[in-house]
Amino acid sequence: MGESPRTNQPESPFDVLYRAVHDSPTLGDIYRRAFGREWPALQGQTSFVTKHELSIIGPGLQLASGGRLVDLGCGAGGPGLWIANAYEASVIGVDSSAVAIAAAKRFANDREGTHYRVADMTNTGLSSGSFDAAVSFDALQVLPDPRRAIVEAARLLRPGARFAFATWESSPPTGAPREATSRFIDDYRPVLEASGFEVVHHSEPDGWKERQLAVSRGVLAQHTELTRELGSAAYELLCAEAREDAHWLEASRARRVVVVCSTGRKPARPATPRQ
Ligand SMILES: C[S@@+](CC[C@H](N)C(=O)[O-])C[C@H]1O[C@@H](n2cnc3c(N)ncnc32)[C@H](O)[C@@H]1O
Repeated sequence: MGESPRTNQPESPFDVLYRAVHDSPTLGDIYRRAFGREWPALQGQTSFVTKHELSIIGPGLQLASGGRLVDLGCGAGGPGLWIANAYEASVIGVDSSAVAIAAAKRFANDREGTHYRVADMTNTGLSSGSFDAAVSFDALQVLPDPRRAIVEAARLLRPGARFAFATWESSPPTGAPREATSRFIDDYRPVLEASGFEVVHHSEPDGWKERQLAVSRGVLAQHTELTRELGSAAYELLCAEAREDAHWLEASRARRVVVVCSTGRKPARPATPRQ
């Protein structure tokens, strides 16, 4: 694994991946084939978010032109930036990976009202009640306790604002140590309600498991090309994830979910997507 040029510390796995994945045509092809017509073709996406999921989340946010969006665990920013463009909103993305944030800034290409910062999505340091909408794409499941990010989203949103996310609901595998169980949430609805959210949409998208397993198979099959394009450290990380996926999906009884919830009161302005 590489070293961070600034600190001489070993880079985090996400940093290693973000340094490599956006320049790999083979990885792009694997995702395109696995998703088929559901591939959103966004620059700066490192998630399983589909066109269908964006078609639920975009309108579900009720984000008006000029509104303020926060993207929690934004990575290289692709899906959040797509929503900001579609609804003419500003966006602040936060991610713990400095390499992801550098990539997000590159992809945003100096778009007005677009800011990215390295921060913990459970403790962003952003002002309370200052956002009209929040999103999180495929990031809650990597946290030691996703509940903390839900509390942070509730804090960041103004009354009546909406939070939408895609992630996996799962149960701790049999025999998991007690201290490791907080990262598994088998139903987000009561967790959201406990933080004052009202759930307005909760669904399991069709075909998510097939897409995910097709990506895993592609990653494991294309070892020569991917090692050449990504380097061995990044490829090994992708392989470990691909091998774990099949096991994890079964052992934790995981299901992918798309969720939209509201802080309670009606938004002040109606949503009008740009044509
Ligand atoms: C699977 S990626 C999804 C990235 C992006 N949302 C997308 O759709 O492409 C998960 C992201 O969560 C970020 N992450 C993990 N733990 C985090 C934390 N505590 N605070 C902020 N970001 C975190 C990782 O760096 C990574 O970029």
